[in-house]
Amino acid sequence: SPIPDTDSVLTVCITGAAGQIAYSLLPHLANGCIFGPTQRVALHLLEIAPALPALAGVAMELADGAYPLLVSVVQTSDPTVAFARADVAVLVGAFPRRAGMERKDLLAKNVPIFKAQAHALNTVANSGVRVLVVGNPANTNAMVLSSFAPSIPKKHISALTRLDHNRAVAEVARVAGVQAPSVDGVCIWGNHSSSQYPDVTRAVAAGKPVLPMLGGLENVAETFIPMIQKRGASVIKARGLSSAMSAATAIGDHLRSWLTGDSAVVSMAVPSDGSYGIKEGIFFSYPVRCLGAGEYEIVQGIEVDSFSRKYIEATAAELNAEREEALAVLA
Ligand code: NAD
Ligand code: LMR
Repeated sequence: SPIPDTDSVLTVCITGAAGQIAYSLLPHLANGCIFGPTQRVALHLLEIAPALPALAGVAMELADGAYPLLVSVVQTSDPTVAFARADVAVLVGAFPRRAGMERKDLLAKNVPIFKAQAHALNTVANSGVRVLVVGNPANTNAMVLSSFAPSIPKKHISALTRLDHNRAVAEVARVAGVQAPSVDGVCIWGNHSSSQYPDVTRAVAAGKPVLPMLGGLENVAETFIPMIQKRGASVIKARGLSSAMSAATAIGDHLRSWLTGDSAVVSMAVPSDGSYGIKEGIFFSYPVRCLGAGEYEIVQGIEVDSFSRKYIEATAAELNAEREEALAVLA
């Protein structure tokens, strides 16, 4: 079970463990800020063989952290060792997007990795394992993973759009002159890509509607939405590397909400169930309510106006196209 339990050890697998996101994420996983201050953790670190020497250095640093809750660290290039008895698997390992590349360009490189890892997870992970896909194209990698891991319930697999959610919340907070926790009602619909729809139509900051603060719908369409959609590309342009610190923070937020519950509505890419007219078969980011213990429900009953509908349909169309391309790559 992924449920934090003070008497047991939670086995957490992270792939791409010598990469830059993992370097920022591992301290969060080990220090109790995600799974709770008393939950002991065993870390299973997966890398490709050429990166094992670098991974050994990361493992030395984990040891040197002397984390009170960290009971053991496994380093391996064998997915069946890494995923063995996993309660939580965070799939970060993938080829990252470089300047000038779109996420679609990553499909051919990354989809086969997720097919192979699905087989291993399906066979050796704990039956209640919760899987978070981060490696891009994250939604479609999650779709591939779930179709090749039939013994893992689809609802136990999700993809990361919390980074996009946090980016949107942070920008609204900046404009409204409040701290992030005073912002409510923001969500991300669709793909973790430049077609995503960061929705602020129902958002409030300190209880006040944010649309007027953002200059109205027209201005939101011209400035806010493209800024959030292209934020990942902006960081790549500035750093020469994709977001890592903020991605690690978002992974921690996603896991904490999912496994321990959250009173706020958050964004997660989850298997579509027909909600809001999105057909089944893709992983779509929705506003979700996290109920704790790895359970969630898609928020129902939101009135989607014609402005939002146009964006939601565009990002769904991209995901349906990615699905077709992924299936073609795997054929
Ligand atoms: P990175 O290149 O620094 O690290 C990736 C690591 O994965 C490398 O060490 C590599 O050796 C390893 N790897 C590659 N193939 C592997 C495999 N088959 N098994 C195990 N490990 C493997 O990249 P990064 O900056 O850490 O980013 C990782 C991924 O996360 C990229 O796909 C990136 O685009 C994506 N990303 C997603 C989000 C999101 O919000 N969903 C945000 C930022 C980055
Ligand atoms: C991000 O959103 O920062 C990452 O997905 C990296 C990228 O390729 O945009």
